[in-house]
Amino acid sequence: MLCSKRSRARRYPNEGFRHSAHLCYNHFIMEIKGLILSGGEGTRLRPITHTSAKQLVPVANRPILFYGIDALKEAGIEDIGIIVGSTEEEIRQAVGDGSSLGVRVTYIRQEAPLGLAHAVLTAEEYLGETPFVMYLGDNLIKEGIAELVKRFKEAQPDALILLAHVLEPQRFGVARLEGDRVVELIEKPKIPPSDLALVGVYMFKNVIFQAAKSIKPSWRNELEITDAIQYLIENGYQVESHIINGWWKDTGRLEDLLEANRMVLEGIEPRCSGHVDGESQVFGRVVIEEGAEVINSVIRGPAIIGKQARIVNSFIGPFTSIYYEVLVENSEIEHSIVMEKSRISHIRGRIEDSLIGKNVEIDRSPMRPKALRLMLGDNSKIGLI
Ligand code: TTP
Repeated sequence: MLCSKRSRARRYPNEGFRHSAHLCYNHFIMEIKGLILSGGEGTRLRPITHTSAKQLVPVANRPILFYGIDALKEAGIEDIGIIVGSTEEEIRQAVGDGSSLGVRVTYIRQEAPLGLAHAVLTAEEYLGETPFVMYLGDNLIKEGIAELVKRFKEAQPDALILLAHVLEPQRFGVARLEGDRVVELIEKPKIPPSDLALVGVYMFKNVIFQAAKSIKPSWRNELEITDAIQYLIENGYQVESHIINGWWKDTGRLEDLLEANRMVLEGIEPRCSGHVDGESQVFGRVVIEEGAEVINSVIRGPAIIGKQARIVNSFIGPFTSIYYEVLVENSEIEHSIVMEKSRISHIRGRIEDSLIGKNVEIDRSPMRPKALRLMLGDNSKIGLI
């Protein structure tokens, strides 16, 4: 807790020396809250996001959002506000009060997805005077954020942004730096001033509220966090940066989600807590969770087979996550994510690069005449061979 000089002086009126020691202590220790953004429309992940929160799509069989909560907790932050929108109920169901993940969660409803700076304003009452980390709920950062939080506590700038070297800076918000100091932020520049893109983690003091109230909605009618940070820069506030070296992923698009799944699976520790019969073969880094069954099948890792899943007469190839209670029979699948309780049966040809939602059924139809019979949600994508 950041206690003011005055309150300390009130409690220790005769202790000048303690007072200065306190200032030094105060310089390094600050209470910091977390703010995870889990509202949004998720238009780029339709049709999954027509019915579900994209932040709950499992990467290596764990909802993406949980990785963000872990990252905050590892950095010593246990009070976390989660911004939610229309998928509030589902997110509450998955995270609860946060105790199972070792944190205390407060839900903050954003009336509509009106931008990241709008989400910050929505959380003003919850955050109050306390500095905070804002973490985009669909982002994954391998090395976590403990270093960033440490830097912020030591240097105490008004804002600290996380940057990463990227191959196509034109697709991102890009920073121009002088030393560590950020002098300009440009959204999707045609001629990028650097290859340093904004990663979805930011640290702010509460001057950010003033900045977010001072800016106007952008062409897409959102209050942009880049504009709020640019306001800080232009008004003489200290905006610093920290460059990460490990990988990070914004999982807002299918290809990035599969890439995140690939990267997390590459680091898993092999384990078999389920049953693999004598006719099956398991190669490489593979996790088989409790109650899962592998019958007359080949699993080539890195891959994870979820609780109570059944893999029968099938091939599960590298970079595949099969979530709980899924059935795969007489089929082949790789580089894909299959969400809970789906059934894939008797498919000719291999399924690849796919995200299959919850309770989906893919099967061969015995009915005559032979035909493709589909019931697909809006914005579905099917690649037939
Ligand atoms: P984005 O991926 O930038 O936006 P989006 O979720 O609306 O997706 P799309 O562009 O595909 O339509 O959002 C980043 C994160 O911030 C994500 O977890 C959703 C969250 N968010 C909010 O909580 N409130 C908002 O107003 C916005 C825009 C995003």
